[in-house]
Amino acid sequence: VVSSITEDSENFVQSRKTRDALEEPTSKVNYTGNQIWKTKLINDQHKKVIMSLRNQGLIQTWGGNRTSLDILVNPINLNEVADTLRNNDILYNIIIDNLQQAIEDENPPITHDNEDRQGHRMTWNSYHRTSDIWGFIDYLAQTFPDFCKVFTIGQTHEKRDIKVLKISNGKVGNKAVWIDGGMHAREWISPAVVTYIINQLVYNLDNEPDYMQNIDYYIAPVMNPDGYEYSHTIDRIWRKNRRPNDPTLSGFKLCYGTDLNRNFGYKWGLGGTSKDPCDVTYGGTRPFSELESKAMKEFIQGTAANWKAYISFHSYGQYILYPWGYASAVTTDYKDLQNVAHKAGAAIRAAGGPTYTIGPAASTLYPAAGGSDDWAKGVVRMKYSYTIELRDDGRYGFVLPASYIQVTSKEALAAVRVIVEAASQA
Ligand code: ARG
Ligand code: ZN
Repeated sequence: VVSSITEDSENFVQSRKTRDALEEPTSKVNYTGNQIWKTKLINDQHKKVIMSLRNQGLIQTWGGNRTSLDILVNPINLNEVADTLRNNDILYNIIIDNLQQAIEDENPPITHDNEDRQGHRMTWNSYHRTSDIWGFIDYLAQTFPDFCKVFTIGQTHEKRDIKVLKISNGKVGNKAVWIDGGMHAREWISPAVVTYIINQLVYNLDNEPDYMQNIDYYIAPVMNPDGYEYSHTIDRIWRKNRRPNDPTLSGFKLCYGTDLNRNFGYKWGLGGTSKDPCDVTYGGTRPFSELESKAMKEFIQGTAANWKAYISFHSYGQYILYPWGYASAVTTDYKDLQNVAHKAGAAIRAAGGPTYTIGPAASTLYPAAGGSDDWAKGVVRMKYSYTIELRDDGRYGFVLPASYIQVTSKEALAAVRVIVEAASQA
């Protein structure tokens, strides 16, 4: 999630004062006193006001939908932003009164019961670094070589591996399902949930229904390792990858990163994509200009798998979205995708989870072209293509405490079962 109004950003002269556009920090960004406010935006005038605040560099936009938007306000701008909202009859409440505190509280230190016997460092009580996640899937491949195989599908600009774990019982005729996480750096719940799903598939598949056992899973828990690492070491709310952009495209200012979920080659560059390399939704110079999206494309298209489903985990907002994302339109078979999404939503509630909002991405959330889900559907023709926005609904937003990893994972797994069952019959 980024915000509901980014689709219009290209029509505005972007301020250079937003976080992603500042001089590159070399030590950890401190968010003391930064606040997250939930605003109610019920008409176009409201949206204009918010956009103008954003273009003046007074706020950043976080998650939201068509009627509400979570914004980040710097301490020095609190009064000015509050006045502007009040003068324009925009209702809001303060969700997080000190973002730095929320950041410090979200991720307790990793503790291991019996590390030696486990052979890897992964847990589901803390958010882990990329090295722990790669260590986990490498360990699985070594320990269960008949069942698990790791593919290094490419490397990032900063030379980190991008890895995919294949889990398969090797039966001929299995359908194939792709699951990815961590495409957006700051959405930490996503890799945590995807590794939980991996753990369940490897250690507990016997207790899963038959349709879960006879599937070839291809799972990429961290699609954007450079961004993910940067969100751990420097800036907790970084979204994009970390490749430096051509400064001549942004008035000779050096800005980093492309939004990988605007960089896929289906209707690339249409609504919801920024052309400004300094913006959080910058779509890159061309489809698959980025090493991460290109690696994924080449692996998926170069693998003789019978692809039937695509699931990309993001956060936040609690949505199950299906194509199209580039504009408000649906696929010819959208009824099938809608039915399965509703079943998945019911399974999430049955697992004790909250209500996830369901619908086509562009009309339910906002238009955003170049998404991986649209490419999976439109080009690869994976029938059941979904983006799942995990918890929460904006109480913590991106900074969801690690104590939510397990509940969020259980409900996500319930949704995956429903999608896999549909895939097995497709
Ligand atoms: N929060 C996701 C994003 O902004 C939503 C993507 C939905 N899919 C799409 N093709 N627009 O990237
Ligand atoms: Zn995302």
